[in-house]
Amino acid sequence: MSASVITVETQENLSHKLIIQRPPLGLSLQGRIRVPGDKSISHRALMLGAMAEGETQIQGLLLGEDPRSTASCFRALGAEISELNTEFVRVKGIGLGNFSEPIDVLNAGNSGTTLRLMLGLLASHPGRFFTVTGDSSLRSRPMSRVVKPLQQMGAQIWGRVSNSLAPLAIQGQALKPIHYHSPIASAQVKSCILLAGLMTEGQTTVSEPALSRDHSERMLRAFGAELTIDPQSNSVTVTGCAQLHGQTVIVPGDISSAAFWLVAGAIVPGSDLVIENVGVNPTRTGILEALALMGADIQRENEREVAGEPVADLRVRYGGIHSCTLAGDIIPRLIDEIPILAVAAAFAQGTTIIRDAEELRVKESDRITVMAQQLNKMGAKVTELPDGMEITGGTSLVGTDVDSHTDHRIAMSLAIAALVATGTTTIHRAEAAAVSYPNFSATLAEVCR
Ligand code: S3P
Repeated sequence: MSASVITVETQENLSHKLIIQRPPLGLSLQGRIRVPGDKSISHRALMLGAMAEGETQIQGLLLGEDPRSTASCFRALGAEISELNTEFVRVKGIGLGNFSEPIDVLNAGNSGTTLRLMLGLLASHPGRFFTVTGDSSLRSRPMSRVVKPLQQMGAQIWGRVSNSLAPLAIQGQALKPIHYHSPIASAQVKSCILLAGLMTEGQTTVSEPALSRDHSERMLRAFGAELTIDPQSNSVTVTGCAQLHGQTVIVPGDISSAAFWLVAGAIVPGSDLVIENVGVNPTRTGILEALALMGADIQRENEREVAGEPVADLRVRYGGIHSCTLAGDIIPRLIDEIPILAVAAAFAQGTTIIRDAEELRVKESDRITVMAQQLNKMGAKVTELPDGMEITGGTSLVGTDVDSHTDHRIAMSLAIAALVATGTTTIHRAEAAAVSYPNFSATLAEVCR
């Protein structure tokens, strides 16, 4: 695609404007691409590697800002982590229970996964004091969902608004095991309790109302932890105080990043795109089920298992799509993909309803309000619901100025909406994409023909 159609302008304050000008005769997406490594698996590989005995080798790590935050926190806790790259990262673990007391505040940046998972580990390190914080978005996100169960285990954590907002101070303790029934299906809550349980004598169980992503369970087992899973009650039990052992982790491409191309390929006329090496763990493939419900033409090719995670190439071809209703147990399996699904719904024939997704209000931004506002600016018909959105599709979108609200998934969703909008769309604060997809605009330019 010619450089004039997709332009990135860097402002004096280092903020980026992503300017997308759709040619009058339209464009299509073609080619074979790869997306960056899975964000959830990248965090866990760094964390478990840092806590294990011996060496962990990571291939395919996401080089986004979020895993960089995890690496810097765990370096400060004493792990040796080589320079981050996609080919080969070496982590020299320090062994369970051996974190050193950092001399400064641990900063998780924009990353909820870093902060919430780390809290479970820090709270269960007796005799050491830690302070943790994050950027302005993370400092406004609820931490009580992990602080409360950790307190039930005996953790000592202090912070603003009844210990629910970062910055937080943690006095590490020997904790006691609990059986925690989480009111929300959240892999961050589940993983935080499991990691605290790893350091706690006895058996710690966490159950959730619907199954959330299970990368922690898979990786903990691979590193040697004793874990019992009861699929009937969506519960996981970890037995504390066993050592973890360093492993080789091969990180598949992130289906949450592939989702932008899946929707783009489905809605931009003439598109035919293959996204190679995508993680298709069933706890993450809600996006494929939702797009199938909408009638999108997506095929899985070359299905295989890589280092304990299912992987496939995904081929998407343009075709008309229609509305659907998304609610209930599917929501945790596509929670991060709802912004881009909103773009698909704005294009689809009929009215799409998304419910049971109130969690979107406490993500990197309030993704219900922000997506509704930004898509409506482009001429879409999106109505906010307390726990989701109602989107009537089929109106033609018009290019205009929109804003990411510094949320990576909003920035990229709006860029895909721009491909089907007439004229020019300018996405302000588009640099947010680097949290999970540093090369997003380069790949966009590469696939648009
Ligand atoms: C994640 C869990 C999800 C997801 C986030 C990554 C993880 O958050 O939205 O992007 O890696 O555990 P919740 O646990 O808050 O649902």
